[in-house]
Order: sequence, then structure tokens, then C-alpha cells
Amino acid sequence: MLTTALEYAHQNKENFLAQLKEILAIPSISTLNENNQDMQRGAEWVAAKLRSIGMEKVQIMPTGGHPVVYGEWNGAGKNAMTMMIYGHYDVQPVDPIELWTSDPFKAEVRGENLYARGSSDMKAQVMASIYAVESALRAGILKVNLKWLIEGEEEIGSEHLGEFIKNHKDMLKADFCLNPDAGMIGPDKPSITTGLRGLMYSELRVYGPSKDLHSGLFGGTIHNPAQALIELVAGMHDKNGKVTLPGFYDKVRKLSKKEREEFKRLPTTNKELLSMTGVPALWGEPQFIPAERVGARPTLEINGLLSGFTGQGSKTVLPAWAMAKISCRLVPDQDPDEVFKQLKAYLKKNAPKTIKWELTSLHNAGAALTDVNNAGVQALAKAQQTMWGRKPYFAREGGSIGVVVQLQQYVGVDSILCGFGLPDDNAHSPNEKLHLPTWYKGIDTLIHMIHNLSS
Ligand code: BES
Ligand code: MN
Repeated sequence: MLTTALEYAHQNKENFLAQLKEILAIPSISTLNENNQDMQRGAEWVAAKLRSIGMEKVQIMPTGGHPVVYGEWNGAGKNAMTMMIYGHYDVQPVDPIELWTSDPFKAEVRGENLYARGSSDMKAQVMASIYAVESALRAGILKVNLKWLIEGEEEIGSEHLGEFIKNHKDMLKADFCLNPDAGMIGPDKPSITTGLRGLMYSELRVYGPSKDLHSGLFGGTIHNPAQALIELVAGMHDKNGKVTLPGFYDKVRKLSKKEREEFKRLPTTNKELLSMTGVPALWGEPQFIPAERVGARPTLEINGLLSGFTGQGSKTVLPAWAMAKISCRLVPDQDPDEVFKQLKAYLKKNAPKTIKWELTSLHNAGAALTDVNNAGVQALAKAQQTMWGRKPYFAREGGSIGVVVQLQQYVGVDSILCGFGLPDDNAHSPNEKLHLPTWYKGIDTLIHMIHNLSS
């Protein structure tokens, strides 16, 4: 019975939290080589947990990069629906570490929140799915078959997951995929995400003299590569916040009147954006509202800059090189490879003869719109309505999740994008946190969803 499943979840609240703290203690940072052992430990922890709740065929499967944890449950029988559940056990780096109030890998409860790297994005979301399935299974209300796809490379662009999916097409057949990595727009605002942006991530290096030089002896005769890099980067936007790469907007799908009206209905205010981020004023294309700028417009961001002397005190130096990490968030129908070429074309046209430059592609992800007319979305929307007493918002979000397009393209599986992380959870930032009341509500929501799917 549904109530039995909910009771099981409520009785196990403390236990659920204790187990979540265990997986949060594993520093599974996918981008750092020094954490490779921890990635393996992360995969093993998830596999053991899936086995312990009765999942079948659980295995750690190699990819060209970090392994995938796969598992199934076929107890609903041949004629039942199959729901895939996606998650990632990798997390982002923790720097700048000095800004954390507590150890990022020793989860700490303060007030209503649990602080740890990966708490919101997304180990707690993976665990919420596991607990919901565990509760439903114990109560005998699980009537859909399951396939678990838990990867270790989401935070670095799911680079090897596409190949993995292509190689396991039959294994990964499903009616839809529950993907709780997309969060919710507010603790009192249940939402389902209907689209994600894509990503093109690159590194630009500008080279000047063969070594760092005395700025007094050579300043004025040599183009400083830091300056040249900044000049190039500054030219990538015009005064109105538009990106100047040649052809950048050619394939951007125009928003219909109806779509623009839907964006207007979203509840997040400019004031909330200011207080969430701490900036003195917002910025961006003036002809679009912030929700459109995040959900449906492409951007170009400088993720980091490096050059010259940045230590204590002063050093009169003319640096030999400069570097910028540059990425673009993309929308349908932009193609990440094409945008990389557009950035290259911009540099070819605008780079001065006084320097040399090199552009490397780091990773790509496609932009996605998902079909909201499937049984999974309906079951989730109804569950949110039950838990929050209001209809969910349907919103396009600005983040990227590589697997969404890969599943659409290679196996024709649509994702149900949701989650119980909040915009002010400090994802990717110091002091990442999880709002515990929303998380517990999330577990109940997924139990309701499973129940709705079965009836
Ligand atoms: N959970 C996020 C994606 C997300 C963020 C979805 C906000 C919806 C709203 C995910 O873990 C993430 O951060 N992905 C990376 C992917 C990238 C490296 C390809 C991102 O968006 O930066
Ligand atoms: Mn993330």
C-alpha cells in the first residue's frame, strides 16, 4: 500500500540521512586525476547500495573514463513499463576551499540544511530515488521495471557516456528516464524542467615572448599576451550583451509568442536573483527577461583567466603567456562543434599578428527539449500536486546534462527532468547545501510518482 511505503520512508528518515552522509564523504571529483581512487570507491558504494535494496544484475561497467554503475529490477513482469533512473556520483572540485564553513566531505547539518560537496548536485538526488524505490519495493507497490544508469562523468561533460550508450542500446531500452539532476525553482514551487542548454567548453592560450620579461626593458615594444587575450575576450560581446562570434545566432530557434508568455508566468523575480547572487545589478540582453536569457538564449562565459604574476607584493613582469577558459551555453538548434568553429573563426579574424594563439576543445553537450506528454511526466506532476497542493511549473533551465541528448539520440528515450535541489543551494560553489525538508518531501514525491505509474 502507498501508506506503507510512505510510513517506511518516514520511519527511516534518520537512517536515510546517515547513509547519505556516507556517500558524501567520498571525494569523487571527476575532473582531478588525484581523485581516481575515490571515483572507484564512489561507484562501489552506489553498486553496493543498489544490491542491498534488491536490485538485480548490478555491475560496475567500464567506459573510456570513469565507470558507470548499472542495475535492473524486473519484478514487475514482461508487460510492465520500464523506467530508467539516471544519476551521477561525481562532483565538482571544492576550491576555493577557504570559503567553506565546514569540511566539504564531512557533511554537517546546520539549521534546515546539510552542507557538503555533492549534497544538492546530486548525490542526495540519487539517494532520494534509491530510497523511494526501496520504500515502494518493501511495501509491494513497485509495478514498473527499473534500469539504473549512474555515471561518473556528468560534471566533465559525460564524455564517454555517449559511446557507452551506443554500445549498450538493447540494455538501455526504456519507456522514459527519470533524471532528478535538474532541481526545482523554489521550496514552495514544484517544477518540472522541459529543456536544458547545451555546452561548448574550450581553453584559449595566447603566447607572446618565449619567457617572462622585464617590463621596463621590453614594455612598449612587445604586445603583452595578457592584454592581447583580454582584448580578444572583450570583443566577444557587444554593448548589448550579444555574442559577436560569426554565425552564433544563425541556428538559435526563435521563441514563439506562446513560449514567451510561458516564460513570463515563471515566478522568480529580479529581486530574488539579486539577493541569491549578491550582484548590485543584473546584466544581459535587454530584449529578453532573465528567465528567457537563462532558459532559451545562448551565452558566452569566461570561466577563468590566468596570466603573469598573481602572488603577494609586486613584480614588474611582462608575462610570456595568458590563458582563458571560455564556454558557451547553447540552445536548440545550435551545434557545439559548429560553435567551436565559430570561436576559432573569430580568433582567426581578430587575433593580432603580435601574438600566437591556440584553442582547444575540452568538452561538449547538446541542448535538449523534452517531451512532456509521457506517462512519467504525468505521474510526477500528479505526485507534486499531491505533495505541494499546487500544480508544478514547467520551465526550461540553463544548466546542461549530457545524457539527456545522448539518450534521445541513441536509444530514443526521453528524460523527465526534475530534482529537489534549489537555486540557492550553492551548487558548484563553496558551502554547497541540501535543503532537508525539501529533500524529504522529494522522497515522498517519488514514492507517489511510482505509485501513480502503477495505477
Ligand atoms: N545538475 C546540473 C545541471 C543543471 C543545473 C540542470 C541547473 C538544471 C539546472 C549538472 O550537474 C551540471 O552542473 N552539469 C554541468 C554539465 C557540463 C559540465 C556539461 C553544467 O551544467 O555545467
Ligand atoms: Mn553540477
